[in-house]
Amino acid sequence: MEKKLRSQQWFGKKGKDGFIYRAWMKNQGIPDYELQGKPVIGICNTWSELTPCNGHFRELAESVKKGIIEAGGFPVEFPVMSLGETLIKPTAMLYRNLVSMDVEESIRANPVDGVVLLCGCDKTTPALVMGACSVNIPTIVVSGGPMLTGKFKGRDIGTSDLWRFSEDVRTGIMSEEELNMAEAGMCRSKGHCAVMGTASSMASMVEALGLSLPGNAAIPAVDAARKVLAQLSGKRIVEMVREELTPSVILTRAAFENAIKVNAAIGGSTNFVIHLLAIAGRVELPLTIDDFDRLSKNIPLLANLQPSGNYFMEDLYYAGGIPAVMKELSNELQLDCLTANGKTVRQNIEKATVYNRDIISTMQEPFNQLAGFIVLHGNLCEGGGVMKPSAADPKLMQHTGKAVVFENIEDYKARIDDPHLEVDENSVLVLKNVGPKGYPGMPEVGNMGLPKKLLEKGVKDMVRISDGRMSGTGFGTVVLQISPEAAVNGTLALVQNGDLIQLDAKGRQLNLLVNEMELEKRKAALPAPFNPFNRGYAKLFVSHVEQAHLGADFDFLKGKSGSDVLRDSH
Ligand code: FES
Ligand code: MG
Repeated sequence: MEKKLRSQQWFGKKGKDGFIYRAWMKNQGIPDYELQGKPVIGICNTWSELTPCNGHFRELAESVKKGIIEAGGFPVEFPVMSLGETLIKPTAMLYRNLVSMDVEESIRANPVDGVVLLCGCDKTTPALVMGACSVNIPTIVVSGGPMLTGKFKGRDIGTSDLWRFSEDVRTGIMSEEELNMAEAGMCRSKGHCAVMGTASSMASMVEALGLSLPGNAAIPAVDAARKVLAQLSGKRIVEMVREELTPSVILTRAAFENAIKVNAAIGGSTNFVIHLLAIAGRVELPLTIDDFDRLSKNIPLLANLQPSGNYFMEDLYYAGGIPAVMKELSNELQLDCLTANGKTVRQNIEKATVYNRDIISTMQEPFNQLAGFIVLHGNLCEGGGVMKPSAADPKLMQHTGKAVVFENIEDYKARIDDPHLEVDENSVLVLKNVGPKGYPGMPEVGNMGLPKKLLEKGVKDMVRISDGRMSGTGFGTVVLQISPEAAVNGTLALVQNGDLIQLDAKGRQLNLLVNEMELEKRKAALPAPFNPFNRGYAKLFVSHVEQAHLGADFDFLKGKSGSDVLRDSH
């Protein structure tokens, strides 16, 4: 006998409660039979005109609905808070955990049997996946897809060029007028950033984890195939409900390991580390930051995509997409993992083909032997610090230099272009108080721009360290996500101008070369960490956010609440 659907705890009720649950739904023109035992599928929509990357999601939801109806389900679309990277101050990351709570409680509280997550811009993916995992009803992700490749003066551009353009304007290589032209040509269509930034890394992550249909990550937002994928996902989620295929079945240790390796092979974002750790926390899987280094160590860079390479997501799609990358990587992957379509990774990649070797290389001749992440420890980052070697200058990976310290982002902005700033190309730029609690919310400022006077000398890269993050589109020899952060009086808080800092990427060490006694003295002089907010979400955030090496989730959100809600509302 088929198990009673969760939604029937609402719509299948008799008497007053059942009346209330059904009658108001019927004001939307719903015939009675729709509520009599069809799988009810929630479409969790992050559409918002303030999240331009997700601006096409109402249209996408219509395709999902077609699939749900076709398979005999009943679709209900609902909104959750949406996070756009470009507009939200002080940083979208401040709200990732809030959205995850919105998603979790919206699903738990409502009569849905399965859920389709419409995700696009960076934080919308991890937030929705985190929330859905904590409920653990059948879930499938449909990503919004990348924008078409940007164009400027006849050449291809994407978000990663933004960092180059802004340095070029500062040094006068590029005019304001040219910058305006680039601005008009960067974002040519619906969709999220067209490079392998965080949004594309997240879309690839869900595909590698098995939470989406194969091919989900790379199809451009405006390609007709995106709508087809959305419709097929709608159709599939109804079957997943019947099969009781929940995230906890899909998200095994092996699935996480596959995702880490795929992220390395595509040159994915450093933000992947923090988000995957947070997702692992929700499914109670003991993943550690060191797993990222260990598992990605022998994975070469197979995808030639900006910021680590040259091409764009559109090119990746034409070259075969993530299934083709995974096929190339198949000796490294655990192929028996079950995925959302009910098939294994092995089955999903069986027919995948690489159509362009300039974009997806072989394992034998990769674009770069360096990929993945280096996870550093040492007295400056006992919890961990993250580097992306494929985006760094190899000459700086073993480097000792004098610290030039900025106490916070305002201090950095005020002094970085000061001609009297004591800095040279061997200095190590140190930015404090941009961590989870310190900012709060860990903004993407870790790849801080270089001092103007050094840019003018032609310096292109320097060692930079901070407790912040970097945009997935960024690059440079930057150590990010230093944990513990300065705001909790981690060693980072103790660094002073002129101290020697030693980066030994090979030995996985980042150390402040100051003797123990002196460090103890400096530590004793620091005020105790405190929460400067006396109300609202920021107070909650600073009180409960965990350190970066644990995923920066709230301490009270680990694990699941499940989908049972036993009390009725009236
Ligand atoms: Fe939305 Fe880049 S700004 S994905
Ligand atoms: Mg970003």
